[in-house]
Amino acid sequence: MKALLCEAYGPIDNLVVKDIPSPVPGPKQLLVEVKAAAVNFPDALMVQGLYQVKPPLPFTPGAEISGIVKTVGAEVKHYKAGDRVIALTSTGGFAEECIVESAKAMPLPTGMDFETGAALVLTYCTSLHGLKDCGHLKAGETLVVLGAAGGVGISAIEIGKAMGARVIAAASSDDKLALCRKVGADETVNYSTENLKDRINELTGGKGADVVYDPVGGPYTEPAVRALAWRGRLLIIGFAAGEIPKIPLNLALLKERSLIGVYWGDSTKHDPTGHLANLHQLHEWFATGRIRPVVSERFPLSAAKDAIASIANRQVKGKIVVLPND
Ligand SMILES: NC(=O)c1ccc[n+]([C@@H]2O[C@H](COP(=O)([O-])OP(=O)(O)OC[C@H]3O[C@@H](n4cnc5c(N)ncnc54)[C@H](OP(=O)(O)O)[C@@H]3O)[C@@H](O)[C@H]2O)c1
Repeated sequence: MKALLCEAYGPIDNLVVKDIPSPVPGPKQLLVEVKAAAVNFPDALMVQGLYQVKPPLPFTPGAEISGIVKTVGAEVKHYKAGDRVIALTSTGGFAEECIVESAKAMPLPTGMDFETGAALVLTYCTSLHGLKDCGHLKAGETLVVLGAAGGVGISAIEIGKAMGARVIAAASSDDKLALCRKVGADETVNYSTENLKDRINELTGGKGADVVYDPVGGPYTEPAVRALAWRGRLLIIGFAAGEIPKIPLNLALLKERSLIGVYWGDSTKHDPTGHLANLHQLHEWFATGRIRPVVSERFPLSAAKDAIASIANRQVKGKIVVLPND
């Protein structure tokens, strides 16, 4: 089978597609024919050796897939060949076939296509966990989403709206902001051309935002914190800009603001029941049309490294997917 391989940590352009032997599932694993594999920001960091997880070399990147079960390990009870599944894999997704831990698979919901299935779980679970469990976002509150046209950003807009918030989307181009409006943002801020803090204050009548959802970091975090209302909450999601901001803590004291870390992956181990409830909520919102992942581009396996490069280069809108078996 063909797989994208990272043979040495380094430039994304060094990734290669090669024929390798089909993997054999262990007792609690599934072998899945990959129909779609979503590209996520950590894929780009991982192949460059810049991520906290450094898989042994060579490895195939790709953490989030959908596909059809080909074979199952001896101890697998809930899946059989032919089942359509979504799975989180950490690595291995950008390949024609992928090994999946059966505990990390879930059935592809009825009515959901493979591309949507691959693009749903990581970003939407992160945003629901962040906004509900960590940020305690309430209906009627104002939510500001930074990097709002990116993968987690789009999901935060949709979930914020589904939870009844007024959503202000902030991104770096008018083109990206047009997409944010299309998925439901009430207001937009172009932080390349407008002053983020002043514009949030203007849009909230001077009160400030109740919650800021921040997957970007870098130069955007501090002005966003300065535009938080009394008891406003900053949700620290990630640092796509590459720089971890250092915030003066008097900004928290002065308005009883909270700076809250969000780590969805580990939260599922600490609160598996809460995670299942969140998945149910997402399925219900999908079934009723409240959320709809935006898949903006599709790549064949031969161009998977271009897909990874475009997320590293700030070019992606919503989610992009690799279709290894097309
Ligand atoms: N904490 C968690 O549990 C969790 C879960 C999932 C993801 N994350 C993290 O969330 C972050 C965003 O993930 P994502 O999948 O949404 O990525 P994404 O689709 O690439 O979106 C990130 C956004 O960041 C902005 N950005 C600003 N400076 C950038 C730069 N120098 N390079 C790239 N992007 C830049 C871009 O928007 P503009 O051009 O509009 O500024 C981009 O759309 C990543 O750091 C990821 O690791 C965290």
